[in-house]
Amino acid sequence: MIDIANILLIVLAVIVLTVCVLWFVVPLATGLPWVPSHEKRIRKALQMAGLQPGERLYDLGAGDGRVLVIAAREFGAFAVGIEISPVHCLIAWFRALFCGMNRQISIRCSSFFSTRIEEADVVFAYVTPGYASRLRPFLERQLKNGAQVVTLSAEIEGWQPDDIDSSELVFLYHMPPTSGSIATYLSAKVIK
Ligand SMILES: C[S@@+](CC[C@H](N)C(=O)[O-])C[C@H]1O[C@@H](n2cnc3c(N)ncnc32)[C@H](O)[C@@H]1O
Repeated sequence: MIDIANILLIVLAVIVLTVCVLWFVVPLATGLPWVPSHEKRIRKALQMAGLQPGERLYDLGAGDGRVLVIAAREFGAFAVGIEISPVHCLIAWFRALFCGMNRQISIRCSSFFSTRIEEADVVFAYVTPGYASRLRPFLERQLKNGAQVVTLSAEIEGWQPDDIDSSELVFLYHMPPTSGSIATYLSAKVIK
């Protein structure tokens, strides 16, 4: 006979298994798995963007919310995280709460492609090159003039960066973007 303790154990095991599956499967299924940024890279990217107190920072694919906490706590920004994985959303939400930053941080649990981001002053995106190409028309459509975009690891094809940090592999752009590439950025620097 199964007693109540065994039933509870089975229920707990099913919950843990479901959370683990969601944790790995949802980000993997998007083609953009969860790979957290190192804090040093996050600070470098936000410094390059010149993020100011009171500005709005959007993290496209917020993962566990670490970018949001640094943006809110160290830069005084209002940080919005958009994340497709419900488990990561929950963790990001708890992280903001435990850091006492929940008034400055909000989490939207959805795909960033179906989210409005016109209010963004700075957009942070740690994405693959494939995702960076898909982001380009989305950003061009939505962002206001003067907004800054920082990408980690992947450049946005067709846009000339304003700045590159080659050791942390961070690319900075502004809206509207100058058409070009890393090559035009480097040649402009040489001419200067
Ligand atoms: C490389 S991680 C970056 C996490 C975080 N920004 C950081 O730098 O630590 C990418 C995140 O994007 C999420 N993601 C993938 N596709 C997405 C989409 N279409 N909309 C929202 N989030 C997405 C994944 O679940 C994953 O957590």
